[in-house]
Amino acid sequence: MSDSSNRQIVIFDTTLRDGEQSPGASMNLAEKMEVAQTLVELGVDVIEAGFPIASPGDFEAVTEIAKNIRGSVICGLSRCRNADIDRAWEAVQHAQQPRIHVFLATSAIHREHKLNMGKDEIIARAVEGVSRAASYCPNVEFSPEDAARTEHDFLCRVVEATIDAGATTVNIPDTVGYATPSEMHKVISLLRNRVPNIDKTVLSVHCHNDLGMAVANSLAAVEAGAGQVECTINGIGERAGNCSLEEVVMALRTRNDFFKADTRIATQRLVLASRLVSAVTGIQVQRNKAIVGQNAFAHEAGIHQDGMLKERTTYEIMRPEDVGCAKTDLVLGKHSGRAALADRAKDLGYDLSGEQLVTVFEQFKVLADKKKDIYDGDITSLIEQEILAVNELWSFSSYRVDTGTDRTPHVTLAIGRGQEQFSTEMACGDGPIDAIFLAIEKLTAVPMVCKDFQVHSVTVGNDAQGEVLVEVEHNDRIYRGRGVSTDSVEASAKAFLSAVNRIAAVTNGSATNNTADRQ
Ligand code: KIV
Ligand code: ZN
Repeated sequence: MSDSSNRQIVIFDTTLRDGEQSPGASMNLAEKMEVAQTLVELGVDVIEAGFPIASPGDFEAVTEIAKNIRGSVICGLSRCRNADIDRAWEAVQHAQQPRIHVFLATSAIHREHKLNMGKDEIIARAVEGVSRAASYCPNVEFSPEDAARTEHDFLCRVVEATIDAGATTVNIPDTVGYATPSEMHKVISLLRNRVPNIDKTVLSVHCHNDLGMAVANSLAAVEAGAGQVECTINGIGERAGNCSLEEVVMALRTRNDFFKADTRIATQRLVLASRLVSAVTGIQVQRNKAIVGQNAFAHEAGIHQDGMLKERTTYEIMRPEDVGCAKTDLVLGKHSGRAALADRAKDLGYDLSGEQLVTVFEQFKVLADKKKDIYDGDITSLIEQEILAVNELWSFSSYRVDTGTDRTPHVTLAIGRGQEQFSTEMACGDGPIDAIFLAIEKLTAVPMVCKDFQVHSVTVGNDAQGEVLVEVEHNDRIYRGRGVSTDSVEASAKAFLSAVNRIAAVTNGSATNNTADRQ
């Protein structure tokens, strides 16, 4: 039970920065805006929107989020370099509540092998960086990168000096996911006890998941007095990822008796946020993932089901509805009207504009002609496709494949780029999906190597929609794509095109198609 004497923990979300550093998780501007708005609605206190100096795309995304997203602090990351800090400020200055986050590595390994700098030099550079950021903005965060492997005495000196220089938040990263919960508890306690000006800052924690301990380490830090947790939706991030937002938040909420700490997170929106991030990054959530996995609330064993029927709390420590896991599943059909669809969308957490509702309803009718029962998963897919289709360069129009055993497929594919239509006819490939892939390569003139291809069903039944997730390589970089349709070949075409759209976004639309026949 929450209590007014509980501490308030600041939730700092870095899905758009550290999360986007997951291989292949790059998001385009429209997707980042959608994720940022979802984070605000979720009640995230600070959104780390990107690393502005890293690329023009990152700079544009942080700037646009700072200009347009209201309700959370908007933060930009920066190394301890003048040009970085200036660029970060240029991007976040438009926010109602901007924050600059500067970092510099402090561990012996990083000092010696990466930076080639001595301890005093590190302190001087960190102080210089924080002071410069503070000259622009009153809200400054400093991270001693690899803090968890930094000598404690030196870490205390760095933290004290950067607080004096104006760091209003000091974040303790376990950059390589090496720490254990008791070590994390120890370092936070030590900083609280030994750094004389520690009460002038918010102590934060940022844990990576290389040994699967990111959430446990973050919770240990909170127990020791940390006031901010850095995390990502679905725990995405560098390598094995970051501390998962939904897990840390639900642990604090469910074990409020133990942690005596609250967050501002509207937990009923967790599943929605998880689904959106999964859809835009193409990174699937494992079925048994805590809180948001498909099996998180499924009880299979007879003895558990029996217990649940007698008293829910025998086997359930959280209610599915508290994280936004829909109670009902079968909802609409061919004869359902627009109001019913709008109602269901609202229950699922989507606030559609009139225009969006019209389009989603049209798609709903097309789908209802193809499949009898429309489930929540179908509606969510339709809405996600509508919300995320903004500014896509290429779109799917139609296909035909004539194929069979021992025959080379004959494919006809039509796709659109804005108002223009392009089509091709060719005999190629090992099967219909390979043929579609080759036709897309030809029409868009984007060379790709398919690295992974997965098909899942969105809901249940023989007529369920198929979701295709692909991973392709282009110029040594991995891109993901996702497509949904009742026809798995069409879903594949959409997935490959969505990967091409990501490539085009990163390469500034340099994907060309001068070999195609215009319709
Ligand atoms: O993991 C890390 O050390 C980081 C810092 C930039 C905070 O992501
Ligand atoms: Zn990190």
